[in-house]
Amino acid sequence: MKISVIGCGYLGAVHAACMAELGHEVIGVDVDQEKVDLLAAGRAPFHEPDFDDLLARGVASGRLSFTTDFAQVADATVHFIGVGTPQRADGRGADMRYVESAVDSLLPHLADQAVVVGKSTVPVGTADSLEPLVTGAGGILIWNPEFLRESFAVQDTLRPDRLVYGLSKDSDRAEQALAVLDEVYADIIEAGTPRLIMDFPTAELVKVSANSFLAMKISFINAMAEICDATGADVTKLAEAIGLDDRIGRKFLRAGIGYGGGCLPKDTLAFQARTEELGLNSLDFLTDVNAINERRRQRVVDLAVDELGGDVTGRRIAILGAAFKPNTDDTRESPALDIARRLEKLGADVVITDPAAGPVLAARDSAAPIAADAHEAVKDSAITLLLTEWDEFKSLDPATLNPAQKIIIDGRNAIDPTTWKQAGWTYYGMGRS
Ligand code: UDX
Repeated sequence: MKISVIGCGYLGAVHAACMAELGHEVIGVDVDQEKVDLLAAGRAPFHEPDFDDLLARGVASGRLSFTTDFAQVADATVHFIGVGTPQRADGRGADMRYVESAVDSLLPHLADQAVVVGKSTVPVGTADSLEPLVTGAGGILIWNPEFLRESFAVQDTLRPDRLVYGLSKDSDRAEQALAVLDEVYADIIEAGTPRLIMDFPTAELVKVSANSFLAMKISFINAMAEICDATGADVTKLAEAIGLDDRIGRKFLRAGIGYGGGCLPKDTLAFQARTEELGLNSLDFLTDVNAINERRRQRVVDLAVDELGGDVTGRRIAILGAAFKPNTDDTRESPALDIARRLEKLGADVVITDPAAGPVLAARDSAAPIAADAHEAVKDSAITLLLTEWDEFKSLDPATLNPAQKIIIDGRNAIDPTTWKQAGWTYYGMGRS
């Protein structure tokens, strides 16, 4: 089947390569010539496990190509819209300009009965408002939200937990779109992946409610971490004990410096804003979810300042981790970088290291204080902050590091306090001492 994927960011590029892996003929479209050139040469513009191989294999097979020219997708049967919906400048709702411009650019080239598949995370009601445009251009709209996690993006696309199809109210169009998407995902469906059929607004809501629930779960355990800090309890033990109740589940109960990244922070804010537009206050609790998340960052800053006697001016602070989570070079809404910036503002001499995001930050700004590895960052530091739980930080031998002062704040509860204390370090965790 001939497929186009419009928007070659994280979501789109991975989706395009995965669709080619499933045997389809795929053309990725993006307005960014530099990105298209990189991808067309089989080179990944971001760090994502397994993506490089998949991309190179797709390009080499001849089934995967990239272009900036919409006219080249005119003979595709299916068009996935995978462009970003960033936070609006006012900081709340989703900025829909990329979705609008992708649709505007695509429609003049749409073949009769071509299926347009919405994948971007959008405010509820978007599909209903786009449908007349797509139908008017001879196409059929279906909504198929994407749930991939960065650093597991390939796995999540090829072996998702579920496929969600949001269908048109027009039953003929709905049936036709469903049959085409089933053909696209035939291998995934055959592997036993549940496929859930619903209307447009429900499909749109599945995505934002899933992300809000995940954010809520993280803030819940971080609230417990605050209480554990005040009472001498251990949040890691607490999380394990409540998580064994399978109604609660163990996942997403890691207390730490909170959530970041390109999705959870923006999607929760946008969902709340959209709900308020609808005249509802149902998501007021997300204000607290966000506030708890914000407090985690300041907690680390306050701890570091206290440990350094109330003044960090000119003090060397080693920061292990810059990405918003391990195994990615993505620093969007990164709690680690935010903490680094807050400390810099207070006059600290911050040194950051991150195996994937470090080189990206250094390339972006040659004056950025980036160290090659943890040993270089920690050398002569007055305090060390572990803020992204990369394996190489978790497996550090504390006895081999040479700081000026052996103090570590473990912002992700990632290392064993006993081992570090035995090596002479003062250890602070998040909700565990
Ligand atoms: C998320 C959703 O998981 C995914 O389904 C959706 O499609 C996009 O948004 P992603 O942003 O890639 O994916 O990262 P995720 O693994 O969900 O982590 C988000 C943030 O939460 C990270 O900063 C992570 O460090 C933090 N986190 C996660 C915690 O602080 N504690 C946890 O227990 C889990």
